[in-house]
Amino acid sequence: MVRLEPGPGIVLWRERLDRAAQTALVAAVRALVAEAPFYRPQMPKSGAPFSVEETNFGPLGWLSEPGGYRYGATHPVTGKPWPAMPPALLALWQAVADYPHEPECCLVNLYRGEARMGLHQDRDEEALEAPVVSLSLGDNARFRIGGTTRKGPTQSFLLQSGDVLRFGGPARLAFHGIDKVVAGSSTLIPGGGRINLTLRRVTRPAA
Ligand code: SIN
Ligand code: FE2
Repeated sequence: MVRLEPGPGIVLWRERLDRAAQTALVAAVRALVAEAPFYRPQMPKSGAPFSVEETNFGPLGWLSEPGGYRYGATHPVTGKPWPAMPPALLALWQAVADYPHEPECCLVNLYRGEARMGLHQDRDEEALEAPVVSLSLGDNARFRIGGTTRKGPTQSFLLQSGDVLRFGGPARLAFHGIDKVVAGSSTLIPGGGRINLTLRRVTRPAA
């Protein structure tokens, strides 16, 4: 495992999870997806479909709907509460977040085909003192991250299966996105593709 600091507030652990841990996590994710299936979110206002499919684990799920972005406790299609986060993800957060409270949302992004994610900020959380922790599984992806304004310089690097990225502090509101996914670069996920698991604290813990 190699620990890199691509910029202030950004830490990248290369292959933080070994292949066995990745395989176990994919199995756990697939079991939970049977309860909380992937669905295709819609952009605010336009209602245009995302190219990624999403679901969530944990008490709160992040939702994008024609009415806007929001956190909610239930799946938009099944109406059921989101399944609990796999213990391995809670353990990962405890190991890397450097934040004393549990994450409340695990957003699951599935990239297949031409799916990508435009530059955006994660800013629907109250607890901006907590970092964003993100784990990549499956195909390689070109990740781009810049500063806290949409214009201005960015850098990009490849995220590979097992890599863990944390951005917080001065980078907590950094613009970031996925330019492209390299189809067929990993055999980890049955059916191919890339799964990104993003862990976030949403509410500010009571003092
Ligand atoms: C996201 O920012 O929601 C996803 C990032 C990624 O897929 O690595
Ligand atoms: Fe994001």
